[in-house]
Formats: sequence, C-alpha cells, structure tokens
Amino acid sequence: MKGSLDQKLFGPWALITGASSGIGREFARQLASSGLNVVLVARRKDMLLELGRQLAKEFGVEYRVVISDLSEEGAIDKLTQATCELDIGLIVSNAGTGQPGKFLEIGMDKLTELLRLNTLAHLGIAHHFGQKLLQRRQGGLVLVGAMGADKGIPYMANDAGAKAYIKSLGESLHAEFKPMGVNVVVLLTPTTETPVLEKFGLTRDILPMKPIKVEQCVYETLEALKANRSTIIPGVANRIINAIMPSHLLRLMMAKIFSKALYRTPSGG
Ligand SMILES: NC(=O)c1ccc[n+]([C@@H]2O[C@H](COP(=O)([O-])OP(=O)(O)OC[C@H]3O[C@@H](n4cnc5c(N)ncnc54)[C@H](OP(=O)(O)O)[C@@H]3O)[C@@H](O)[C@H]2O)c1
Repeated sequence: MKGSLDQKLFGPWALITGASSGIGREFARQLASSGLNVVLVARRKDMLLELGRQLAKEFGVEYRVVISDLSEEGAIDKLTQATCELDIGLIVSNAGTGQPGKFLEIGMDKLTELLRLNTLAHLGIAHHFGQKLLQRRQGGLVLVGAMGADKGIPYMANDAGAKAYIKSLGESLHAEFKPMGVNVVVLLTPTTETPVLEKFGLTRDILPMKPIKVEQCVYETLEALKANRSTIIPGVANRIINAIMPSHLLRLMMAKIFSKALYRTPSGG
C-alpha cells in the first residue's frame, strides 16, 4: 500500500519513534513514499540506518537517525535537540512494548521502565512537538495505543493501563488541537503482524483471528489522520468486535489467549 499524504500539510519532515521494526518501520515507509523526509528514532542503530538508506534510495527523501532509549530520563530532551532545526509537520509516537505475565511476578523496576516508555515518552513528545505544530497551525500527531486496552487486559495489566492513558490523552488533544488546524489520531492497534507477536508467544493457533497486515494498519491510520478522526481501529472485523463485545468477555478472551501463550507445554497443549 502506498501513502498519499499532503506534503504541504504534514511535511517537509515526519518523525517516527520505534521506526526500526513493525508498525513504526511501515509508517516510515508509507510517509517516505508520500515524499516526506523522515526522522527515524529507536535504539537499534543498524536497522535505522539501513531503513534510512533504503528510503532515500527508493523515494529520494532525506533521513535522520536518532538513537534513543525512550524509557530513559532525558530522552525527550535528546530528541528535541537532535531535531531542533527541522520543520517537522507530522509526529508518529509509536515506540512501545510490553511484558506479558502475572502482574505480581514482574518486578517494579521493569513495570516502571515500561510505564515510562509507554506513557511518559508519549507525553513528552506530544508536549514538545505539539507546541511546534500549534505554532505552524497545521500538521499531525499520531499516538499509538492498543485496541481494548481501556477495558483491561489480564496478564498485560500495566501495559494495558499505559495504552488506556494514550487513548485518553490523544482523544483529549484531538479536540484541543482541532481548532488550531492540527490533526490528532490515536491508533487503537488490533493484533497486527509484527515481530512483537512472536516475542509474546502469540502464534496463529492461539489467536481467535488472523492478525492484520502491518501495511493495512498503517494505511488506515494515515487515512484517519487525513480525515482528522480521533481514533482508528484498522480492519472492519476488529471494529465490529470492539463495538459489540462486552468488556468482561473481551477480558476473558484475552486471559485465555495469554494463559495459553505464557504457559503452554512444549507439545503445544
Ligand atoms: N503488533 C501488535 O499486535 C500491537 C498490538 C497493540 C499495540 N501495539 C503497539 O504498536 C507499537 C508498535 O509495536 P510493533 O507491533 O510494531 O512492535 P515491534 O515490531 O516490536 O516494534 C517496536 C518498536 O518500538 C521500539 N522500542 C521499543 N522499546 C523502545 C525503547 N525503550 N526506546 C526506543 N524505542 C523502543 C523498537 O525499537 P528498538 O528495539 O530498536 O528500540 C521498535 O522499533 C507499540 O507501541 C505496541 O505496543 C502493537
């Protein structure tokens, strides 16, 4: 899928966090295909450099790589310094991860590190770049959350709470920034084919539905950004499930899925 974002509104530069893999990488690709220069942010330098070179070659855009662990204090300052002279019209605050498991078996250090990455990094990015976008009176902010997180996800309790924060933050900013000409959309990510599924043990046999393709996930989000919708759940079937499934049943389903993923026997039983 090829993007078609208006360079005048959302360019000349876009910044994407978590661009080394999965959804962030695909955002970078679709934005570059629209002719936007890209700032690629993550921890894995080699993957960012390789992606930047590919995009420059394929689409003739410029790129800048910023190596940053966004769970660390001071990460946002580093990001703002590394981009201070660039005219950034679109920010995709996507970097994030989680740690499936029993809540009490995950140490407070890990839970706090994840909470910083999954909430404070988005907050810092929205605050710094939000000011810049409002000064330009045009542009966009995409915050990446998770479908169903606001209803609670057993065995992902801390990460679901963090994603619920992103949804609320983004929906609020959508309304605040709209009169200033700045679009804000929250991607309520459904299960999407990226490396994180394997990392979490979420194999096809235990998922109730086929994960959507990363290309579709990003394409639908950019369409929602253009239309200035407050949230987007890519995939019709996902939208229907989210609308009709009672929260307690969704939690029951997620508990079963993660129990299987976490505690399956080597034979797969
Ligand atoms: N795929 C799904 O089914 C799904 C569902 C719900 C929500 N999401 C959300 O979608 C977003 C993208 O996930 P994905 O599926 O594309 O997973 P992914 O392939 O694992 O990509 C995660 C990205 O985040 C970056 N990242 C992780 N920790 C970081 C840190 N401490 N500092 C800076 N960057 C960091 C990673 O880069 P480095 O490792 O190079 O730093 C990577 O580029 C995440 O926020 C995730 O929670 C995904």
